[in-house]
Amino acid sequence: MNHQTQRQPDPPSSDRPTPCCPAIRVMMMPRDTNAHGTIFGGVLLSYIDQAGAIEARKHTPHKFVTVAMNSVEFKQPVYVGDVLSFETKATKFGRTSVTISVDVTAERFTDPSTNIPVTSAVLVYVAVNEHGRPVPLGVQSSPAE
Ligand SMILES: CC(C)(COP(=O)(O)OP(=O)(O)OC[C@H]1O[C@@H](n2cnc3c(N)ncnc32)[C@H](O)[C@@H]1OP(=O)(O)O)[C@@H](O)C(=O)NCCC(=O)NCCS
Repeated sequence: MNHQTQRQPDPPSSDRPTPCCPAIRVMMMPRDTNAHGTIFGGVLLSYIDQAGAIEARKHTPHKFVTVAMNSVEFKQPVYVGDVLSFETKATKFGRTSVTISVDVTAERFTDPSTNIPVTSAVLVYVAVNEHGRPVPLGVQSSPAE
């Protein structure tokens, strides 16, 4: 086996978050890997962005755009066959923006009973109208002109 793709032991379970209601659950496929054989960070960022947008839409019916990924931490590698859960939580509501935290956990292919924290991120979404301009949360955008 290629040394770079060898799995590392997972950390103790004491600091693992309790899973709740993931916005997304998805199995990682060979197409998602980087040059080292683990899952490419950009693939995870794409799912994180989707998960955060799903959470944002729970709170108002607006279209949202991502304005910032304020923090992303890749804590543990992710492997082909792992099932990832993207848990989301709205942590702050501004006038037009909502801040969402996303915690990603992995059920390892080799041991589906595991629930390993692999990535966490904080993103900010802005509600926009049909012209792409910010609109207050909770207020419908005006009809298209
Ligand atoms: C999002 C966008 C419409 C904001 O436009 P803007 O002119 O900066 O708007 P404002 O200055 O009125 O800010 C709007 C809100 O965004 C927040 N915001 C703006 N820049 C931010 C940043 N870098 N980080 C966090 N929040 C930010 C503001 O604090 C404000 O929040 P509030 O109303 O809750 O207080 C504009 O930056 C944009 O279109 N960006 C591109 C979005 C995009 O294409 N994303 C990728 C694909 S979804």
